Amino acid sequence: MGNIDSELYKLISNTQDYIEYGMISDKKLPDMMLKREEPESLEKIAGEVAKCRKCRLCEKRNNVVPGMGVLNPDVLVVGEGPGGDEDIQGLPFVGKAGQYLDKWLDAIGLSRHTNCFIGNVVKCRPPMNRDPQPDEIASCISFLERQIAVLKPKFILTVGRISSAVLAGQEAGIGRLRGRTYSYKGIPLIPTYHPSAVLRDPALRKPVWDDLRRLKSELEEIKNVH
Ligand code: URA
Repeated sequence: MGNIDSELYKLISNTQDYIEYGMISDKKLPDMMLKREEPESLEKIAGEVAKCRKCRLCEKRNNVVPGMGVLNPDVLVVGEGPGGDEDIQGLPFVGKAGQYLDKWLDAIGLSRHTNCFIGNVVKCRPPMNRDPQPDEIASCISFLERQIAVLKPKFILTVGRISSAVLAGQEAGIGRLRGRTYSYKGIPLIPTYHPSAVLRDPALRKPVWDDLRRLKSELEEIKNVH
């Protein structure tokens, strides 16, 4: 039976059921009447982010910043939330801190254009660049979790206290968190300082470099195994 015939057959049979029993069996509902779920993708998530009004951060945003980079990245970099430049451009880490972050990545053979994805814990700018509040993080975190499930990164680099604590699942300052490798749902995760903190305090360059070198060598190990 052709597709249209079979849909027609189901419609007629449903109508008969409805007349006889006052109900329609779900199994017989024509496919065209069943709501099809769009498959999960970065585009689908970004579309939902664009419409999101789950927390107060939506009120003052110019643009949402869902993230940018490649699928199946070697490294997913996670910051805390967009700043002023990011809010204007709708892209993550494009201001001073972002340009500095790009240099870190370049030093270990990484780039948002070839083998990284860059995202944030919250997708809208917190006013005056304040820390995102726990309820704002709670409203937004499922977007990042879904992005990670689609991206399937080999490694995660969290920059700053907030993304490190959230994804490593440990409530502590970045000075205590950094220096070891954690696991986010089986994906190795290295926390380091936020590039803006390092721009303010050059003494943090050395520990960041130690973290980046460790990331590079652990990533190479993973790539050699696969
Ligand atoms: N700081 C962040 O944490 N994220 C950005 O996207 C920009 C600055």
